[in-house]
Amino acid sequence: MPTSVLVAYGTTNGSTGQIAEAIAEVLSKEGLTAEALPAQSVASVASYNAVVVGGGLYAGRWQKDARRFVRRHRHALAERPVWFFSSGPLDASASERDIPPAPGVKKAMDRLDVREHVTFGGCLEEGAKGWVARMILRNGKGGDFRNFTAIEEWAGRIATELAGTPGKTN
Ligand SMILES: Cc1cc2nc3c(=O)[nH]c(=O)nc-3n(C[C@H](O)[C@H](O)[C@H](O)COP(=O)(O)O)c2cc1C
Repeated sequence: MPTSVLVAYGTTNGSTGQIAEAIAEVLSKEGLTAEALPAQSVASVASYNAVVVGGGLYAGRWQKDARRFVRRHRHALAERPVWFFSSGPLDASASERDIPPAPGVKKAMDRLDVREHVTFGGCLEEGAKGWVARMILRNGKGGDFRNFTAIEEWAGRIATELAGTPGKTN
């Protein structure tokens, strides 16, 4: 049986979901069974051998659905290989250097023994929800800073790490 990977994401404006889809696509191409799902739609992770969790960053925290996912599934996650990613910075910084996880994300990483965390650039475009988003856009600070080459490379590394351990949970 191929290793089955869930890529769960918490998003408010959709861009983190597209990162999750790109990750799942790479994992699938590499021969794993992978699907990207909104974090709040996942009832159980029991059927997956490994989990990638991603959250959009809002005021220094993961978007709430990603936070709740980690809390709700903490016991199952602790028994599986887990990777985290954040998406947020609305500038080139994430492509230029390693941006450490937000404090709450770091705490969850330590508790769950998460293998790796990476921060990808974010995206904020016309139509985003909320007055802060509208203000950022009005000030010309929006845009799409996601680096899909870096995202796909990271997913490729996960596939490599999971290769050779089909069906195993750890
Ligand atoms: C109200 C608001 C707060 C934000 N706070 C942060 C933040 O603390 N750190 C960060 O890197 N990006 C921050 N951003 C940028 C978002 O993380 C970025 O737009 C991200 O791609 C959103 O993900 P989503 O489209 O999946 O919701 C913020 C954006 C908004 C609108």
